[in-house]
Amino acid sequence: MEISEKKEGSLYSVTFLDENKEIGHIEAISDGHEWSRITELKVAPGYEGEQIEVKLIESIKKTLKVHHIFAVTEQKLFPVYEKAGFFRSKTSFTFTETVNGETLKDWEDAGLFLPEGFRFEEEFYPRKSFIDNGSIEKKKDVGEIRYSDTLDGADFNEINRVLSKAFGGHERDANKTREVFSTSEKVELAFDGSTLVGVARAVTDNKSNALILNVAVDPCYQGFHIGWNIVVKLAEQLPDYSVFLNTHPGAVGFYNRKGFRRNRTAFCYTEGNMPLEISKGFNLPEGYRFPDEY
Ligand SMILES: CC(C)(COP(=O)(O)OP(=O)(O)OC[C@H]1O[C@@H](n2cnc3c(N)ncnc32)[C@H](O)[C@@H]1OP(=O)(O)O)[C@@H](O)C(=O)NCCC(=O)NCCS
Repeated sequence: MEISEKKEGSLYSVTFLDENKEIGHIEAISDGHEWSRITELKVAPGYEGEQIEVKLIESIKKTLKVHHIFAVTEQKLFPVYEKAGFFRSKTSFTFTETVNGETLKDWEDAGLFLPEGFRFEEEFYPRKSFIDNGSIEKKKDVGEIRYSDTLDGADFNEINRVLSKAFGGHERDANKTREVFSTSEKVELAFDGSTLVGVARAVTDNKSNALILNVAVDPCYQGFHIGWNIVVKLAEQLPDYSVFLNTHPGAVGFYNRKGFRRNRTAFCYTEGNMPLEISKGFNLPEGYRFPDEY
């Protein structure tokens, strides 16, 4: 069997060929560093079965070399993803406001979503997206915020500053920030005058799939609907796309409202082992099935 790999922008693919006949194909969008989403997995008739599918997933994992891989799938492929080390994601969302009614109905009929505003029974997610590092002076009011969908004139150190302030934790690599923002197909930035106060970006396959990343608002400016406007404006740049994102337990409440739908069939692979205490905020237990899936 021959393996052919391709990369075009943010779209990566691997094709398995048997004497020039295509027997399997997998595609993923990725920022080439940390995040990716499998967007297509197909096996030629007569070749179906876990073996080829798992091998395709393992192949794209090697091609992508990223920490996190997501996939929205269908029930028959759950065992395939599980075999490839994926867990069922609790914290994945799809923006549905800009898809046409027919597509949305198809997605709903395919069981892709949990009911609007769904919360898991045992779910406890304090609102902890706001990180107070002791030096935050919260704005009492903000004036008119300007939104921009280009990086023209953007200062990557400023983008880095907003990301570092919002996510806290570690010093971010400015070169990596420059690279991932410049190669993302879509961006959305928010400014108060000339000050950058919020960012987000999306990688896409330039046809129908997108993955939103790095949604962040300067903590001094949080709570003024800037974050919401950024994600909606970014998603609106991708009409009729399947616009997907994964968040953390502390921000589930931010997305779990009209506009976004919580994914029911999303899977997530994380390189290395997440401690159980952390993993249970992001993932359902291994092999989890909803009652109607048995
Ligand atoms: C998450 C984040 C982008 C939200 O930005 P923001 O500008 O403060 O949020 P908004 O003012 O637009 O919030 C919109 C609504 O969501 C609510 N909300 C905001 N953050 C929330 C959270 N973490 N949990 C629950 N609800 C939240 C707001 O109260 C507001 O509700 P309302 O419409 O009833 O008034 C921002 O807090 C942030 O940068 N956090 C750190 C980075 C992060 O966690 N990013 C998301 C990763 S995917």
